[in-house]
Amino acid sequence: MDSIHLIADNAGLQKAAALLGEGHLVAFPTETVYGLGADARNGRAVAAIYEAKGRPSFNPLIVHVASAEQAKTYVTWSDTAQRLAESFWPGPLTLVLPLREGHGISELVTAGLPTLAIRVPAHPAAHALLKTFGGPVAAPSANPSGRISPTTAQHVLDGLSGRIAAVLDDGPCTVGVESTIVGLTDTPRLLRPGGLAVEEVEAVLGQSLGTAEGAISAPGQLASHYAPGASVRLDATTARPGEVLLGFGPVAGDVSLSPTGDLAEAAANLFGHLHRLDAMGKPIAVAPVPEIGLGRAINDRLRRAAAPRD
Ligand code: TXA
Ligand code: MG
Repeated sequence: MDSIHLIADNAGLQKAAALLGEGHLVAFPTETVYGLGADARNGRAVAAIYEAKGRPSFNPLIVHVASAEQAKTYVTWSDTAQRLAESFWPGPLTLVLPLREGHGISELVTAGLPTLAIRVPAHPAAHALLKTFGGPVAAPSANPSGRISPTTAQHVLDGLSGRIAAVLDDGPCTVGVESTIVGLTDTPRLLRPGGLAVEEVEAVLGQSLGTAEGAISAPGQLASHYAPGASVRLDATTARPGEVLLGFGPVAGDVSLSPTGDLAEAAANLFGHLHRLDAMGKPIAVAPVPEIGLGRAINDRLRRAAAPRD
């Protein structure tokens, strides 16, 4: 069965919310990447996410809600959570907090962990969908497991058409890389760099974030992830014969993440450019990107794209 391509107007939002309520999979835009949504309380619907993506089932999912008030019904809140939510929600920040008694979230979402990753997305269509639906929506990125994340509805359909009920289309994502994940179960830790710069989180907390090492942290951070079909070579300043060069700043390349060296622009372009270069079927060389601000998330995704695969 073909997937329905919904425009994010009122009728499209109503239809998308109704499909979610019936236990179907609906891909929807967020400011980071397109998510593959299912009712987080419906085990069968959540199982269908893993099936559609071909995702290993030990990898827990992020739950999306319309407000911090709603988040508090599923997780045990803290002062630190309150400060971060006030500063960055709605937005590209996911908080990992202890699950509350009687939360009702399917165990398939948490992969059996006593904690939940939760966020309030800033995208207007995501917000409208979550409000209309009213419940918690589990959503990983809407791509087959291990492939490049989708930043347009067309990317979603290229990877998952026929395997999901619908995609809600509201144009390209503005941030372009997945949310930053911060664990708050003990001392605040960075579990995944993402679309909110770590430096901004640290400025609000007044302390530096711990790392995932030693914590149960972010399972499913598989080394080879976000991988294009073609091979990827990092820190390149020139293309070798046969390669296409993805530029940044002074390295012009065949196409550039950001000619001016703007990291926000580079993040927004990252997956779209990788999709396009991948379609050329040539090995991809990538210019160096500085390891500051959003550069940390960009480099994290690039390292995974370049990692050896089996
Ligand atoms: O920007 C985003 O975060 C996108 C959009 C759609 O919102 N979503 C996304 O979800 O990237 P997903 O499912 O691909 O990311 C899930 C990651 C897991 O791989 C894991 O690293 C972390 O979130 N995670 C989920 N639950 C966790 C938990 N209870 N403890 C620690 N890490 C968790
Ligand atoms: Mg993903």
